[in-house]
Amino acid sequence: MKPTASSDWIARSLRSVWHPCTQMQHHEQVPLIAVSHAKGAWLYDHEGRRYLDGISSWWVNLFGHANPRINAALKDQLDKLEHAMLAGFTHEPVVELSEQLAALTGHALGHAFYASDGASAVEIALKMSFHYWRNAGYPDKQEFVCLQGSYHGETVGALGVTDVALFKDAYGPLLRAARTVASPDARNAVEGESAREVALRAARDVEALFAEKAGSIAAIIVEPLVQCATGMAMHDPVYLQRLRELCDRYHVHLIADEIAVGCGRTGTFFACEQAAIWPDFMCLSKGISGGYLPLSLVLTTDQVYDAFYSEDVTRGFLHSHSYTGNALACRAALATLQIFRDDAVIERNRQSATRLMLEMAGLIDHARVKNFRQRGMILAFDAVEPDNARAATFSRRFFTAAVENELLLRPIGRTVYLMPPYVLDDEELAGLAARTRRVFESVIAD
Ligand SMILES: Cc1ncc(COP(=O)(O)O)c(C=O)c1O
Repeated sequence: MKPTASSDWIARSLRSVWHPCTQMQHHEQVPLIAVSHAKGAWLYDHEGRRYLDGISSWWVNLFGHANPRINAALKDQLDKLEHAMLAGFTHEPVVELSEQLAALTGHALGHAFYASDGASAVEIALKMSFHYWRNAGYPDKQEFVCLQGSYHGETVGALGVTDVALFKDAYGPLLRAARTVASPDARNAVEGESAREVALRAARDVEALFAEKAGSIAAIIVEPLVQCATGMAMHDPVYLQRLRELCDRYHVHLIADEIAVGCGRTGTFFACEQAAIWPDFMCLSKGISGGYLPLSLVLTTDQVYDAFYSEDVTRGFLHSHSYTGNALACRAALATLQIFRDDAVIERNRQSATRLMLEMAGLIDHARVKNFRQRGMILAFDAVEPDNARAATFSRRFFTAAVENELLLRPIGRTVYLMPPYVLDDEELAGLAARTRRVFESVIAD
């Protein structure tokens, strides 16, 4: 192969960087892409080739790369305060962000605890729930419940409430087992069953478990409306309403992991809004910093907060991360929330989502497409492959063909999904759809 400006970076990366979620040997066939810079929805390599970021760089980027407004906020913040420890100290960005997020929940969730990545937020919610029950005099409430196909991150605690065999099985002996209940995934419908009926059926599974075991259960954790990492499994909002009722009735905490689905992704700022409920804990990360900096947080209620407020230090939540409440990351988040307000993003996304659906609708009746579905700015479908061997390689073949078509898309198994930044204009949305259809046709025909 002829050496290029990228090839040196690629070779050096393969020697020294252990890439995430990757069997490194696959890079013997699938080339790495060395990104030189990015602008808007486009990533550029060192040869000037470009790639439309159809999955928002792992679901984090909301308003494009090198966004002028977020850049300006960060440059301003850099000259004031990059970081200060948050124990014993506070600062403007973390206070303002906490206040704004509390207001977005109508002050139902008025206390924000910070960390850096999504999995840490999940750990915090689990620990807080467990510790709440101990402080409240219910030390037996120690178990967690998760859904079939759930994904909550890769750290040991978060993996314990994750149900994706590929990520979990190797570490089975390390993990504290959670109880798993049926997924409300609308694809589980039996003949004639609606999405709502599937959701109600799945909720009955939770009810049966709670009726028997609530005395030992601290919390149930759910990805509201879309279980993303298992393959964009979508469910009816009634499931969340039922969970809320059951959690209230049986005194179990509801943890909403909105790490992937929050920040406008499903059509409302928080996915829970579509069910008109608030959880006891809400985890946010990914889009909250506009995709700029690692930031995560858990929002919770006065009731939870008050159970930790005491003269006794051990009743406090003694959890910390060095970068908790990082000022730069919080400032990026504030700039992100400002864009939501200035540009009426939720309304604009409604139009973008409709546009995307129209552009992709040609696939709905395609013989090799199943379960075409959409929730806000997530659109997905499952490819039908004639045999297991082809199904097993579908994702890699699709990714490679996509890159050749200036497109960054990484199917999950046979599920092709689009989760673009919110800044695509009509032409870019049409281009994203046209490229996706073209790549799909070539991959199923190869
Ligand atoms: C729903 C959900 N929870 C948690 C996580 C973990 O977040 P992170 O990768 O930042 O640790 C993810 C990541 O994809 C996610 O989708």
